Amino acid sequence: MVRLLALVALISASCARAGIYGTSPVADTVLSAGRIATVTWRDDQSEPSLYEMGPIKLDLYVGESFVTTLAEDIDPTSGSTDVWITPSLRHNGSDYHMRFVCEDPPLTVYTADFGITDMANMAPLDGLTLDPHNDSVPTVTYITPMLTLVLPDATVVSTLKPTPVTMRPTPTAPPFTVEEDDEPRVPAQTQTGAAVAMLGIGKRPTFDMERIRFRLVFILWPALVGISMAL
Ligand SMILES: *[C@@H]1O[C@H](CO)[C@@H](O)[C@H](O)[C@H]1NC(C)=O
Ligand SMILES: *[C@@H]1O[C@H](CO)[C@@H](O)[C@H](O)[C@H]1NC(C)=O
Repeated sequence: MVRLLALVALISASCARAGIYGTSPVADTVLSAGRIATVTWRDDQSEPSLYEMGPIKLDLYVGESFVTTLAEDIDPTSGSTDVWITPSLRHNGSDYHMRFVCEDPPLTVYTADFGITDMANMAPLDGLTLDPHNDSVPTVTYITPMLTLVLPDATVVSTLKPTPVTMRPTPTAPPFTVEEDDEPRVPAQTQTGAAVAMLGIGKRPTFDMERIRFRLVFILWPALVGISMAL
């Protein structure tokens, strides 16, 4: 009865307006898992012809359950394609069939039911298994930019960011920005006044004075106060 139904399905499929007619595998074919198998087909002289069809893919089914796509983007006029069937399906049986699926124009052509043997019988095999296909389960690939959350220099960026620190030492003193121009000042500071004058005449002449004043106000003066209080 099942065979009859399959035969009816096969006949109706091949009678449908579909240019592909599978010539291998056929009903008495037994493929070996883990080996290359050649799938062949020909133009069955009905519309659309193979030349009018877009690329096709080849799906493997066991019974009515989708197993895997064996090949994609096949040129229908090529007439054959090599496929490899994974032994990890672990099901020797004669209830396999393939479907040629074309999107443009949309059509699906079934091969006859055929057999596959040499399936592995060991459980832990990396590969496909025969879980029922479920179209309603979406396959979502999450690409989470986790690295941005754990960037090691995230805090460095925040400390390097120029944040002017305005210090107001006394109510009468003008605001003094510490952060600005700190680095380039270091070599000039180590040089004598004459050298500074030779290297850049009139270039920020007041800076060193401001720096000295700054040191007086913020370093020397507190130190003196501390010393005097300690005495
Ligand atoms: C499938 O058949 C092969 C060859 O007969 C055999 O070695 C293997 O154990 C079978 N696998 C299963 C899952 O029955
Ligand atoms: C497919 O997956 C959905 C959501 O997980 C579930 O509700 C539904 O029952 C599944 N259908 C089959 C045939 O397993």
